[in-house]
Amino acid sequence: MVRMTDSLLEAASHSVSPADIVGSPLHEIFKQPFLLGLFLPIQNGGWSASTLPRSTDWHFDYNKALTLKAEALGLDLVFGLAQWNPKGGHGGEMRYREDSLDPFMVTAALASVTTRILLISTIHVLYGPWHPLHLAKFGATLDSITGGRWGINVVTGNLESHARMFGKAQIEHATRYRMAEEFAAFLKTYWHSEETFSAQGEFWSTENAYVSPRPKFGRPIMVNAAGSVPGIEYATRHSDLVFITSPAGAEIEAALGALPAHCGQIQAAAARQGRVLRTLINPMVICRPTEREAWDYHDAIVAAQDRTAVDNFFASAQARDSHSFRGAQRDQKAVGGNIQLVGSPAQIVEYLLRLQAAGCDGVQLTFYDFEADLAYFGEAVLPLLKQAGLRI
Ligand SMILES: Cc1cc2nc3c(=O)[nH]c(=O)nc-3n(C[C@H](O)[C@H](O)[C@H](O)COP(=O)(O)O)c2cc1C
Repeated sequence: MVRMTDSLLEAASHSVSPADIVGSPLHEIFKQPFLLGLFLPIQNGGWSASTLPRSTDWHFDYNKALTLKAEALGLDLVFGLAQWNPKGGHGGEMRYREDSLDPFMVTAALASVTTRILLISTIHVLYGPWHPLHLAKFGATLDSITGGRWGINVVTGNLESHARMFGKAQIEHATRYRMAEEFAAFLKTYWHSEETFSAQGEFWSTENAYVSPRPKFGRPIMVNAAGSVPGIEYATRHSDLVFITSPAGAEIEAALGALPAHCGQIQAAAARQGRVLRTLINPMVICRPTEREAWDYHDAIVAAQDRTAVDNFFASAQARDSHSFRGAQRDQKAVGGNIQLVGSPAQIVEYLLRLQAAGCDGVQLTFYDFEADLAYFGEAVLPLLKQAGLRI
C-alpha cells in the first residue's frame, strides 16, 4: 500500500481538469467571456431576511422550474448551499432558513430533467461518515447520468454549531484544509486511476479500491469557496472554479475597489501552480426598468426586514470561522448577496463589466423574488450582456 505522500498529493493537484478536454461541458461553458450561474433558493427566505411578499420558495418543484428557466436562458450552472440549522433556523417571524433541502439531493434529482446546465453539489465532506470512496462513487454516478455536467463544491464547515450536530468538535481552520487536501487527492485518484488502488493517508486509507463508472472527462468538476490563504491555496491545486467574496463588504463601489487586488492574488497563486482557476462572486441583483424603481424595490425589501432574523443571521456570520464574510455589515443582510447590484438593466450590465475588469470570471446570481426577477433578468439584462460582449 502506498502512503498518501506529498508526491501523490502533488500528482492529484496536477491531474487533468475537464476544462482541458475539448467537448466537455466545462470546456464549453468556459468559452463564455463571463460566466453566469444561479444560486438556487433551497432554503426558506433565500438570501433575504425580509417579509416583503414574493414567490421565492425552497421546495423542489420551484427550484426545478428555476433551473429549467436558467437552462432555457442559456445560464451555465446552478448550485445551492448546505446548512444545518436548528428548529427555528435563524429565527424571527419568518423562521429564516429553518427549512432547507439538501443541495446534493437536489442536484441529483435535477440530473435527469436537465440537458445542458452544470449541476454543482455543495457537500460538507468532513461531517462524515463520508469516506472519499463514497463521494467518488456518487460523483461518478452523477457524472454518468449527466454526461459530465456534475461537480462537487467541497465545503469543510465553518460554524461550530454545525459540527456539534454531528457530535463533533469544530476542527481548526488549518486542519480542515489539510483534511480537504487529502480528501480531494483521494477523490481525484479514484476518478483518474485506471487500476485498482491502495493508499494510506493521514486521515483516510483505502485498499484495492476502484471506481466505475469512469468519469466521462477525466473527473467531475471541482469547486470550493474561499477567502483565506489556505482556502485559496486549496482552490489553486484542486478546483476549476472558486467562489470568492468581496473583502470589503456588499456595497458595490467598495467591493470594486478591493476585488482587483484580491482576484490578482488568486490568479498569481494559480499561476504558481501552473493552473487556471476561474472566480465567481455572488451578487444580489435588484433590477427594474429605472434606477429609481430598483432602489424603491431595494428599500421596500429593507423596510420589510425581519429584524430578529437579520440580527441573528448577522451574528451567525460573525461567529463563523471563515475569512470570507468579514467585510459584511448588518444592514446588508436584510437584502443578502455577497455584493449588491441595484439599478436599471443598463446599470446592471455596467456593474458586471466592471466586475469582469476587476478580475471576476463570472457571477452566481441571487434575486429577491427568484421567478419574476430571473425572468426579468433574462428579458432585459441578458440581451444587453450579449451586446456588451459578456455573453456569446
Ligand atoms: C458563495 C459561497 C457559498 C458558500 N456556501 C457554503 C455552504 O453552502 N455551506 C457552508 O457550510 N459553507 C459555505 N460557504 C463557506 C465556505 O465553504 C468556506 O467555509 C468559507 O468561504 C471560509 O473559507 P475561508 O476561511 O477560506 O474563507 C460558502 C462560501 C461562499 C463564498
